Amino acid sequence: MSSYDLTYDGAHLNKENAVLEVRNIKKSFGGLVAADDVSLDVESGTITGIIGPNGAGKSTLFNLISGFYEPDAGSVVVNGTEVTGRQPNQIVQEGLLRTFQTPRRLESMTVREAMLTGAQSQLGESIPQLFLSGSDVTEQERENLHRASELLDFFEIDHLANEPTTSLSGGQMKLLALARALMAEPDVLLLDEPVAGINPVLVNEIASFIRELNEEQGYTFFIIEHDIDFLMELAEDVIVLNRGRVLLEGNPRTVQSDERVIEAYLGGA
Ligand SMILES: Nc1ncnc2c1ncn2[C@@H]1O[C@H](COP(=O)(O)OP(=O)(O)OP(=O)(O)O)[C@@H](O)[C@H]1O
Ligand SMILES: [Mg+2]
Repeated sequence: MSSYDLTYDGAHLNKENAVLEVRNIKKSFGGLVAADDVSLDVESGTITGIIGPNGAGKSTLFNLISGFYEPDAGSVVVNGTEVTGRQPNQIVQEGLLRTFQTPRRLESMTVREAMLTGAQSQLGESIPQLFLSGSDVTEQERENLHRASELLDFFEIDHLANEPTTSLSGGQMKLLALARALMAEPDVLLLDEPVAGINPVLVNEIASFIRELNEEQGYTFFIIEHDIDFLMELAEDVIVLNRGRVLLEGNPRTVQSDERVIEAYLGGA
């Protein structure tokens, strides 16, 4: 089959205040169309999920939105500002930041250093003075230090602050990635498989951290995740991507039982 029914069941959500608007985004790699005219909105204050089989184009879409890939066509608007073609750190300044499916290597850094350099590189600032002088701490650096310890505390990894990042477990690395992303205080956070490969207890903990950040601090989340139960629990809106295209969108329960989604996962589409 060469085409899909495009069903925008976004009607269950009244999207009047989109923090992210993607319009007709396209990206090809040689003959492969990884993003094929993708349009979607992420409503401010929501947790929106995105699912789809391996290779559907989910990470590519996040790369296009966050400035790591340049689209062949289409546009990305964050908080009302068009950011298409801008660098990732410029897009962070407009309020959008993403995490990676495979954790970035932070070798030779302690957890606290990773937090601080995270804030700097995400915001496109220079190397922290803290590591150069050791004594002459500016106001900004003091704030960053304070925020780093608050976030490590929130994610319950403050006891690891002085540990080298190389000593962390996979689950602890996922927590650090989240904490580090929040250093930049983005309005919308794109998480690429935040609970892949970690134990069910920590999956639940991460779900409650995300819920708390959303409900009590107003962060908007756009989350790629294969763990459908995790999204059922958290998301009020789920977008299904298949072969670079939006297959449908709707509330998690409707989406989960939709024949087209089942077919796509079985590879029968
Ligand atoms: N930089 C690249 N160069 C060439 N091909 C790429 C590149 N990035 C992605 N692709 C291709 O685009 C397609 C979509 O890949 P993508 O990583 O976006 O899928 P995904 O939905 O995130 O899959 P998964 O669930 O396995 O993470 C794949 O066929 C992939 O090989
Ligand atoms: Mg991926």
